[in-house]
Amino acid sequence: MCGIVGVLGQHEAAPILVEALKRLEYRGYDSAGIATVNNGTLDRRRAVGKLVNLSDLLVHDPLPGKSGIGHTRWATHGAPNANNAHPHQSGPVAVVHNGIIENYKELRAELAAYQITPETDTDSETIALLTHHYMKQGMTHVDAARKCLSRLEGAFALAFLFDGEDDLIVAARKGSPLAVGHGDGEMYVGSDAIALAPLTNRITYLEEGDCAILTRQTLDIFDESGTRVTRELREVSLDASRVDKAGFKHFMAKEIAEQPTVLADALRGYLNGNTIFLPDTLPDFAKVDRLVMVACGTAYYACLTAKYWFEQIARLPVEVDIASEFRYREPPISKGTVAIFVSQSGETADTLAALRYCKGKAETILSVVNVDQSSIARESDVALPIHAGVEVGVASTKAFTCQLNTLLLLALNAANQRGTISDTDLASTLSNLRALPGLFNAALDRDPVMADAATQIAEARDVLFLGRGLMYPLALEGALKLKEISYIHAEAYASGELKHGPIALIDKTVPVVVMAPRDALFEKTVSNMQEVMARGGRVCLITDAAGAEAAGDDVWRTVVLPEVDPILTPLLYALPAQLLAYHAAVAKGTDVDQPRNLAKSVTVE
Ligand code: F6R
Repeated sequence: MCGIVGVLGQHEAAPILVEALKRLEYRGYDSAGIATVNNGTLDRRRAVGKLVNLSDLLVHDPLPGKSGIGHTRWATHGAPNANNAHPHQSGPVAVVHNGIIENYKELRAELAAYQITPETDTDSETIALLTHHYMKQGMTHVDAARKCLSRLEGAFALAFLFDGEDDLIVAARKGSPLAVGHGDGEMYVGSDAIALAPLTNRITYLEEGDCAILTRQTLDIFDESGTRVTRELREVSLDASRVDKAGFKHFMAKEIAEQPTVLADALRGYLNGNTIFLPDTLPDFAKVDRLVMVACGTAYYACLTAKYWFEQIARLPVEVDIASEFRYREPPISKGTVAIFVSQSGETADTLAALRYCKGKAETILSVVNVDQSSIARESDVALPIHAGVEVGVASTKAFTCQLNTLLLLALNAANQRGTISDTDLASTLSNLRALPGLFNAALDRDPVMADAATQIAEARDVLFLGRGLMYPLALEGALKLKEISYIHAEAYASGELKHGPIALIDKTVPVVVMAPRDALFEKTVSNMQEVMARGGRVCLITDAAGAEAAGDDVWRTVVLPEVDPILTPLLYALPAQLLAYHAAVAKGTDVDQPRNLAKSVTVE
């Protein structure tokens, strides 16, 4: 993962780099560093831990200079410590790297023959060592960097800075995204355009294999074969407010609370009355045989939910897979298959690789993304935006509900084309969907009840989540949310699976969160709850008023949500799943927005 940035500016680079790194901290936060060239002299500062540690270091030990590069790290090779932090330097070469150099051991062995030894445990340092080695053989800075690039295997986005060169950054991408920003007499580079948002909205996205030579006035780009190429300069609309918590204690709290507004906006993006507006480039679903849906983590659970919708409403068979499994399984993909890739960031390495596998095999490559200029969006035949706005909290919340919203509209549209939904049912579902933001607001009012239950749950070592039908993927999402931000061990099961093994775990120390609106499957879930309670288990039931009444008084905690159209329950029930995790994490005092070991954009496999 990691975030990289570079600036050739008219002002001091260090504060600009740190500000840009703040906007990239979602990509990793194990350590951070910057390097600058000041009057021809290359120097760097690095600090372990959050970016604030680097800022503190720079107060005591400033780094002057108007050109510089910076990095925020998510460790892959080598422990997160100051020595392994980027920029890596060898003689006159400093480099920041996002990705993995797969052949770094071979390259290290080659350099060892010249008595060149690494000082860190990282794969990235090899890039600086190798470029320096080529410079010692007489190559220019640019030629040495390009020669080094030709030797690298794996995935990378890179920025090089050189001693003695106040007006030069070499940048390159292969497998990891990189954007070049154009200013007035300034030039920038960053892992994404949002990092550069306060500086410019004039962006050139580098393509796979590109190498860019930047000065303050010029940008020269060469493709993988070394041919000079032109890449489009676009004016992108960027939300520069991403670092604003709007008075909330955490970004996650803000992003949970803004779901009613965001959902209403997202619906406006796709709906006009009872007409669903989707791009003309989408296939006619009446002619589609099958869907394959691929994603990771929370986005995978959005796909699992959508499987129920596509199969039940549109009568379209769906296969859902985890991207890291799908990509290496070589699954047969027939024409007539639409392959759907769901990703908030649009940069997840495994999902992107799965998409590339389907190219030329599937009828259509369709993506559902939050970042519309992301690699996954750009490599798809059709990219549907989820309109969630920038999501900063590492635990996905509003992006999940907006993914569900987009996938539901797609399923309804498919059902309409396939004639499996009547006009009346379609109109009534869409009308209920339009009313959903209001129900979300009402559900947010139940926050104190959820906070109270979460505070109790926070004391547990293990928690189980149960759900049936559409609530099963939601149970999985609830367990993922809880474990990733509160570090409490949580597992989810389809309620019917309980007695096939997991029931052995039940005792009075294990809270069991049951997600069950009063629907056609409710009675069956009540039986499962009885089985839990009979063994001393404490049930936290998330349901509606009818469900609460039917469940009786033996339930340990009940969270009552407004009644909602059964098709829409996954959207509304996402809220308690998120809030339980959030409040449990707050009760435990963990780092809610930047939980340990995680990063927002997983650009390595
Ligand atoms: C969990 C979470 C992750 C992501 C996963 C995929 O809260 O955010 O599980 O859903 O890493 O990321 P994207 O959607 O960017 O492909």
